[in-house]
Amino acid sequence: MFESVIVALWAMLPAYVPNNAAVVVGGGRPIDGGRTIGGRRLLGDGKTWQGTIGGTLSGILTGVLLNLLAVGLPIDGLVPTFPLLALLGLAGGAMGGDIGASLVKRRLNRERGSPVPGLDQLDFVVGALICTPILAPGWFFDTFSPAVVLIVLVITPLLHLGLNVVAFRLGLKNEPY
Ligand code: CTP
Ligand code: MG
Repeated sequence: MFESVIVALWAMLPAYVPNNAAVVVGGGRPIDGGRTIGGRRLLGDGKTWQGTIGGTLSGILTGVLLNLLAVGLPIDGLVPTFPLLALLGLAGGAMGGDIGASLVKRRLNRERGSPVPGLDQLDFVVGALICTPILAPGWFFDTFSPAVVLIVLVITPLLHLGLNVVAFRLGLKNEPY
C-alpha cells in the first residue's frame, strides 16, 4: 500500500507540474483566439498557447529530472522511469484535460476562474490517464495498477487543493481553488 502511494505520486508528478507551471508562465494569446460559440468564449482567456506549451514542457522536464534523480536514491527500482512518450502523455494529457474542462465550463456559462468542484480537481488526472495509455500503453499498464489508479484519484484532489491555496497565498492565483 505504502509502495503504491509512492509509485502513484512519483508517476503523476509530470502530470501535476504542468497546470501549476501554466499559472506562472501563462499569458499572451488565448488558444481560442477570442472565438465564441453562442455568445460564450470557446475556452476563455485562461487557456493560452504560452501556458499550454510551457506547462507541457515543464512536465516533461520534471520527468527527465525524476529519471536522473531515481538512479541516486534508494527508491531506484521501486519507482518507474519515464520514457519520453509517457511524459508526453502525462504532461500533454494533463494540459488537454484542463483545456477540456474549460470548454465544458464555458458551455455551462461559467466565467473564467469560476470553480466547478470535482471537475477542477480531476480534469488533468483524467486527461493524463486517457492520453498516457494511448501514447505509452506498455509503460502505462506496468506502472498504473488498479490500486495505483485508485490512489491517484483519491490523493490528487487533496494535493491540488493544497497547492492552489499556496499559489493563492503567493498571489499567483486569483482564487484559492
Ligand atoms: N493558464 C494558461 N494556459 C493554460 C492553463 C492555464 O495560460 N493552458 C494560466 C492562465 O493564466 C490561467 C491560470 O493559468 O488564468 C490558471 O489556470 P486555470 O485555473 O486552469 O484557468 P482559469 O483562469 O481558472 O480559467 P478556467 O475557468 O477556464 O479554468
Ligand atoms: Mg481555475
